Amino acid sequence: MILFKKTAELIEYLTIQRKKGLKTGFVPTMGALHNGHISLIDDSKKQNDLTICSIFVNPTQFNDPADFKKYPKTIENDVYLLEKEGCDIIFLPPVEEIYPPGTSTIHYELGVLETVLEGKFRPGHFQGVCQVVHRLLDIVKPDKLYLGQKDYQQCMVIRKLIALTNTPTQPIICATQREASGLAMSSRNMRLSDNERKTATAIYETLQAIQKDIQPGNLQKLKEKAALTLTAKGFTVDYVEIADATTLELIDNWNGSTPLVTLAAAFLNNVRLIDNIIL
Ligand code: PAJ
Repeated sequence: MILFKKTAELIEYLTIQRKKGLKTGFVPTMGALHNGHISLIDDSKKQNDLTICSIFVNPTQFNDPADFKKYPKTIENDVYLLEKEGCDIIFLPPVEEIYPPGTSTIHYELGVLETVLEGKFRPGHFQGVCQVVHRLLDIVKPDKLYLGQKDYQQCMVIRKLIALTNTPTQPIICATQREASGLAMSSRNMRLSDNERKTATAIYETLQAIQKDIQPGNLQKLKEKAALTLTAKGFTVDYVEIADATTLELIDNWNGSTPLVTLAAAFLNNVRLIDNIIL
């Protein structure tokens, strides 16, 4: 495994590999790696000649400075896990390699994706995600980009970014990896106590209850019941919603045929957790 910190050196190395005809798969992360991240590395390894993983805690996507400060950092373990998994390249850039002085800010037209759900509750977050992913794609120029369904809306945003920027990269969406309890794996889970981890399984259970109970017609009561269940267990709920799985427009009345996704975001203590199920 080769570790790069300098953008120019990575670009030079990858240019040579591409000239040899090697296909590349890219897994961008913010580190504090768990089996969810590792599953993306495995998928990339199966489908490409070279797998590149970046670890960069992107300051521009944190709408809450306290969340940025508290974001878990486990770099030695991350490098160990990537080496063990057979990742070919790690890109570990300092901030100035991603945002050199004088970097201009582009505004990405994300439409409804920026006004609903995560877009609504985390203003500016997806602009920051686009800024960093645009820059990383420019550097790595991968054939395939591996993303987790765990961040459903982020997958849609990045697909839109790829279309807006005419980037010749194919996004691949990989299944959400869960603990045996059903809790979606997340770097933020490291900030939960043992008891909180047990409580946190209620998010997935609540989404599963929606999946089981949903019927065509008005969905208001179903959503309200789900949010109340989480509140009763001690969560502070941002949303429990049901949306069109292809556009993410919120659905209050279901015709029984539009494909749906149910999504939730809630705080347990001050740790914000998200999850979703395609219905
Ligand atoms: P991060 O939260 O580190 O996640 C990196 C990738 O791992 C994302 O594509 C995410 O969806 C995926 N992932 C996280 N948890 C997962 C799980 N339980 N199962 C499967 N995949 C999972 O998402 C980001 O970083 C950043 O926003 C980034 C795209 C790197 C831009 O900064």
